[in-house]
Amino acid sequence: EKIHAFQKTLLKWYDEAGRSTLPWRADHSPYRVWVSEIMLQQTQVSTVIPYFNRFMQAFPTVDDLAKAPEADLLKAWEGLGYYSRVRNMQKAAQQIVNDFDGAWPNTMQTLEALKGVGPYTAAAIASIAFNEPVAAIDGNAFRVFARLFEIDADIAQPATRKLFFELGNQIIDQERPGDFNQAIMDLGSSYMSAKNSDPAHSPVREFDASYQNGTTDLYPVKSKA
Ligand code: ADE
Repeated sequence: EKIHAFQKTLLKWYDEAGRSTLPWRADHSPYRVWVSEIMLQQTQVSTVIPYFNRFMQAFPTVDDLAKAPEADLLKAWEGLGYYSRVRNMQKAAQQIVNDFDGAWPNTMQTLEALKGVGPYTAAAIASIAFNEPVAAIDGNAFRVFARLFEIDADIAQPATRKLFFELGNQIIDQERPGDFNQAIMDLGSSYMSAKNSDPAHSPVREFDASYQNGTTDLYPVKSKA
């Protein structure tokens, strides 16, 4: 039915035109996915790429990160800003090594126990590294889903996250949840971007309610208060 057709169209586009050369997409180990998602939280993709590659060279495994001198970590992070991210990452690496005997938590729920890992990052790791069908809802996903389905809920309200998470979980591809989430990210940074959207040429325009109705610019709804 319609959800299946949407998934098929989206993933076909992702396979053909998605950003498959991003370094964190070559290998879906939880460590690489986690490091990339933390870096991408407040930093744009083009900036993250060289930092990610250097970080993986300097700290190839979660053990290396757990035992690294803090000065080395801060040096590797220099220029990315928000240094609490890398401090929390080292604490999380130590949790994995010491509390979990080196075994990664492999569900969204258990990943949220890691320092610095909130619902978005937990869902990204669970879906991309462990194939759990959970939607990763960041700012891009809010915009993409709000436009596709003309959702009027205010994304500035904390309760709205649950609505989008549940919607995402209903439409996520069960076989390829990580690719589905990353395809939504790629749509959100191209045809359905905040500043240069081009919904008329989007691969999913036939499923895009706001495009069909000419209401793209009304979504997402975000109050100023
Ligand atoms: N932004 C956040 N996570 C991302 C990912 N996995 N790929 C591309 N952009 C992202």
